[in-house]
Amino acid sequence: MLCTDDYRALARPRLPADVWDYLDGGSGAELTLDANRRLFDRAELRPRVLVDVSVCDTAGKLLGDALTTPVGVAPTAYHRLAHRDGEVATARGARGALFVVSIFASRSLEDIAAAATGPLWLQLYWLRRRAVLAELARRAQDAGYRALVLTVDAPRIGQRLRDQRNGFAVDPAVRAVNLDDAIMAASHEHREGASAIATHAAQTFDQTVTWADLAWLRGRTELPLVLKGVLTAEDADRAVEHGVDAIVVSNHGGRQLDGAVPALRALPEVVAAVAGRCPVLLDGGVRHGRDVFIALALGASAVLVGRPALWALAVDGADGVAGLLTMLTGELEHTMALAGRPRLADIGRDAVLLPDRRD
Ligand code: FNR
Ligand code: LAC
Repeated sequence: MLCTDDYRALARPRLPADVWDYLDGGSGAELTLDANRRLFDRAELRPRVLVDVSVCDTAGKLLGDALTTPVGVAPTAYHRLAHRDGEVATARGARGALFVVSIFASRSLEDIAAAATGPLWLQLYWLRRRAVLAELARRAQDAGYRALVLTVDAPRIGQRLRDQRNGFAVDPAVRAVNLDDAIMAASHEHREGASAIATHAAQTFDQTVTWADLAWLRGRTELPLVLKGVLTAEDADRAVEHGVDAIVVSNHGGRQLDGAVPALRALPEVVAAVAGRCPVLLDGGVRHGRDVFIALALGASAVLVGRPALWALAVDGADGVAGLLTMLTGELEHTMALAGRPRLADIGRDAVLLPDRRD
């Protein structure tokens, strides 16, 4: 395994074709999915020379917790689709990295916490049944989770043509065990030409939620509250004014609004609007330590990887995830050395040039 694409290549034949499409796919014409990657590939690094790079340190802190690496695992549903041990394997493999657990995790919050090696955050979608959210928030806090992440880019599910063509439904053997079977039933019902994930969300997600509702969630937990799916300076400013503790700049890996800006493009304006008032993370298209370096240079405190973690899980469970994160962190360390930026604090805005929007 020499690069993240090696995990992708090995994972693909191990997964049923419809599961592969669910993991791999984006929405619409997959414009945003492709754009996330393309912008990373077009960013250019400005190396400094004659710097002592004998020790390059990737360790840091986020919301008060120590992290071995600024690379964490993004919340993705149903890790048991990729490996029988599911999120417990991911938690073991994270080895001191941040792991954001999806509301649709296929292992219990408590079992994941028992296997954890680093900080866990719990991601939520705003379900119509608020009592269920309140209960999850309480369970997460009791189990030692360190933050709640509210994903705000999915009032409904993006139009994912691959899933529609496959009539994708989640294998009934793999369940979102932290939620009642009754709430999740639609996710498992196959229908020609429809995505069961989308049908399920249409039934259970609350599309009426606005900024005014954040106070309700705040009142249900003492945990820090993170918003995931912010792509504009306007919303970043609003998020900070509403007291959120961190922001994840994300377009959901190109799975929601097709044509939305690449996450990396949105990062500088969000960082400028936040102006140091809270940490900013990024996900979408991070596939190399160089990409991590670029995001850090543009002001991210950390990045998350979605699909690569699932590839690694499919390839080798906990060891796969550990190997992937070690690889990405090693690539970051190597980039820091050759770019003459041995500390995370040295990776400033001057370290990267982004192509002009008009290019
Ligand atoms: C996701 N993502 C996601 N996000 C979220 O907030 N809750 C979720 O349950 C899921 N589920 C999910 C499943 C799968 C299969 C994928 C690929 C993605 C989005 C995820 O957190 C993240 O934003 C993207 O995956 C980041 O992009 P990359 O790293 O996959 O390019
Ligand atoms: C997805 C949802 C579950 O991206 O977030 O598939």
